[in-house]
Amino acid sequence: MPSIVVVGAHWGDEGKGKIVDMLAQSADMVVRYSGGDNAGHTVINDQGKFGLHLVPSGIFCKQAVCVIANGTVINPESLLSELDMLQSKGVDCSRLCISDKAHLTLPYHVLLDGAEETARGSAAIGTTKRGIGPTYADKAARNGLRMGDLLDLEAAAGRLKATYASKEAALKRLGLELIPFDALMAKLGAYAKRIGPLITATETLINQALDDAKTVVFEGAQGTLLDVEFGTYPYVTSSTTIAPGVYPGAGLRPRALDHILGVFKAYTTRVGTGPMPTELLDETGELIRTRAHEFGVTTGRPRRCGWFDAVAGRYSVQINGMNAGALTRLDVLDDFPSIKVCVAYEINGKPVRDFPGSLTTLNRCKPVYEELPGWRKPTPHLRRFEDLPAQAKAYVHRLEHLVGCPMKMISVGPRREETITVAALV
Ligand code: IMP
Repeated sequence: MPSIVVVGAHWGDEGKGKIVDMLAQSADMVVRYSGGDNAGHTVINDQGKFGLHLVPSGIFCKQAVCVIANGTVINPESLLSELDMLQSKGVDCSRLCISDKAHLTLPYHVLLDGAEETARGSAAIGTTKRGIGPTYADKAARNGLRMGDLLDLEAAAGRLKATYASKEAALKRLGLELIPFDALMAKLGAYAKRIGPLITATETLINQALDDAKTVVFEGAQGTLLDVEFGTYPYVTSSTTIAPGVYPGAGLRPRALDHILGVFKAYTTRVGTGPMPTELLDETGELIRTRAHEFGVTTGRPRRCGWFDAVAGRYSVQINGMNAGALTRLDVLDDFPSIKVCVAYEINGKPVRDFPGSLTTLNRCKPVYEELPGWRKPTPHLRRFEDLPAQAKAYVHRLEHLVGCPMKMISVGPRREETITVAALV
């Protein structure tokens, strides 16, 4: 049975939640391996509409074990409110397992994220202010607390004391107050009571599942161009968002993956600051945003919208080694008389074929567009590729050719059933 990793091809919000929810129907295990509650995955199914931040989208499938693996960072406060929300709607969360090696996002991380953003002034990254950057920074600096520490609070308190003192002092200098140490320890005690029983060495569970030929779906967070190595640095998140990140992020052995599925949106969006060559600051961008309701699941911020960027898409296919694609939100383009695709960039009339690593270069890039005819017919009711209007099929084929990856799934609406499966993956 296959193992499959699902990653966003552009700047996140490509619709991974829906795709993972669909794949999870036939999965034995669904694993989150990076990021934290900065992620926002929307899932709409017969149980309702859910905005998930930490819990894997497989939680709605009774047969699937759900894992939050070691590469993630977890704010226990957010995790508990997410579990409360799910349980209040009757969703069974007893199949959730959490890595003992995932790092904890604590109140000082959240405060520091906000303060660092303010200090950046006009160069602010536009983070979600969930404390993600400071948590990963502490992990690398070896100052972090891990979920496993909740199981030995006495030892944790000893280690946390020094870190707490330096964070408290730093926050004080910024005029910010941290909850007292004892109150923080009391909170950790309360988290341990509820979350403690879920904490385990998830890498062992995952590798055992693969040994037993189970179907395992790895759910990436954010998008390739927000990757801390290969994204539009420094306007990125602080973790790995790409498919190869699943190896350290879940304790997976090399060569364990059968499918690397990239999720592409039929147009491009971005939240936060940083370059986006195809951004439309005109009424067309506004039209896409309104039609598609492009507002962040985590922060509610309006997303920047533009035409499909195939240069960035091609780079993403290369970096991730994608062998399959899912194209989402095709229906959003149903009414456009014509649709543009960015096939290359240019600087002062000179072509730039590859996605530039330098931010200065990328900021100077102007998109070169190809214009394709629109189909001006509704698509949400269609279930077979051959039934799509000819222009819609031509659009999909053109994107496949430009990015170099076959689209095996096409989403034509937010609901599970509003999907065209071109070729089954699981
Ligand atoms: P952080 O991850 O909160 O540090 O934010 C860093 C950048 O990543 C900002 O531009 C955020 O808007 C962006 N970002 C973080 N999570 C997501 C997501 O789930 N979707 C889209 N953008 C995200």
